[in-house]
Amino acid sequence: MKRTVCLCLSLVLFLAACGGTTGPNATRTESRTVSTPPAGITPLRDLAQKRAIFIGAAVDYDALQNEPQYAYVLGSEFNILTPENMMKFDATEPEPNVFNFVPADAIVKFAQQHHMRVRGHTLVWYNALPTWITNGTFSRDQLIAILKQHIMTEVSHYRSSVNIWDVVNEAVADDGTLRQSIWERVIGPNYIDMAFSWAHEANPQAHLFYNDYAGEGLGTKSDAIYNLVKGMRQRGVPIYGVGLQMHVSTQYYPSTQDVITNMQRLAALGLKVQITEMDVKTQDDPNPPAQRLQDEAQIYHAEMSACLAVTACEAFVMWGFTDAHSWIPIFTNHADAPLPFDTNYQPKPAFFALEQALKEQ
Ligand code: G3I
Repeated sequence: MKRTVCLCLSLVLFLAACGGTTGPNATRTESRTVSTPPAGITPLRDLAQKRAIFIGAAVDYDALQNEPQYAYVLGSEFNILTPENMMKFDATEPEPNVFNFVPADAIVKFAQQHHMRVRGHTLVWYNALPTWITNGTFSRDQLIAILKQHIMTEVSHYRSSVNIWDVVNEAVADDGTLRQSIWERVIGPNYIDMAFSWAHEANPQAHLFYNDYAGEGLGTKSDAIYNLVKGMRQRGVPIYGVGLQMHVSTQYYPSTQDVITNMQRLAALGLKVQITEMDVKTQDDPNPPAQRLQDEAQIYHAEMSACLAVTACEAFVMWGFTDAHSWIPIFTNHADAPLPFDTNYQPKPAFFALEQALKEQ
């Protein structure tokens, strides 16, 4: 049973403890050797389990295959993971009716070996599509058949190992309208309900999520997502929850109270919520590097506290866990440090902020 977190007090305590550069726990050495966890340092996954939530990260397949430190930290600190790219349409069905689950199977096997849940990501998105889709010309019936087969084949393949799916990703545009995509344009808005029904048919036990960014707090897009999933619930669509991606920056992030209010109104619809892709872009922060790390840490603390304050919030998943493997520098063509471990797999203030939030009762 999660307890209500006094957010103001917890933040004050956290800031007071953060005087040094090592984060809130003065007795903790700043650097941790990940080869052997020093006695007395509790992994984040154990702290999270005590608070009845999952904590995890998106997984870079190549890093998992080639970097022992990456695999060690992933398996020792976290109890849920999301394949960053290997369950997307372009990776799993690169050619029509030709499915490739080999990389994703390896990630799922790692999760099973480390007693981790898996978030399947993602069945329907406007991005990460193979060229046979983006360059193809399809009738509505043809595209419905293609999408149904894709969803049912992938969900069925993972029926015994993956029971959390981001079924539809980012279907709402930033202005709150339904995003234009091949799915919306050729099939129509009903592609969303159809996708959830097919995923449910393939695995009736799966927890099916709608996942999106920039709708974590309150505002136009958040309202549009709320109205979308409210309508799905009213139509009896088998939606289980909403994924709040939480791609934020030290210059912009939703307030803890807005996130709590949004989570609570989604919960009032009978839905669960998960933070699914958190990272904190720091490159636009005008402060000196040490302050940027503290700015980042406070945001991780705030959003974890928001999740802990709402019983319906089941999981806190980041989009990676080490600055050595983040999409942000590639996407922005600018160095960044958005995650709780640095490029040498040393915990940053953001790590200690998460630990602090999880320890607060
Ligand atoms: O694997 C190929 C490689 O063989 C090739 O040499 C290289 C250069 O073309 O591309 C590699 O594929 C890239 C892939 O990441 C793996 O690195 C794709 O081009 C690139 O588009 C892809 O970007 C991913 C992006 O989604 C699009 O799928 C990012 O890593 C990933 O972090 C990002 O994640 C999304 C979530 O799925 C949804 N929410 C937003 C989030 C950030 O954009």
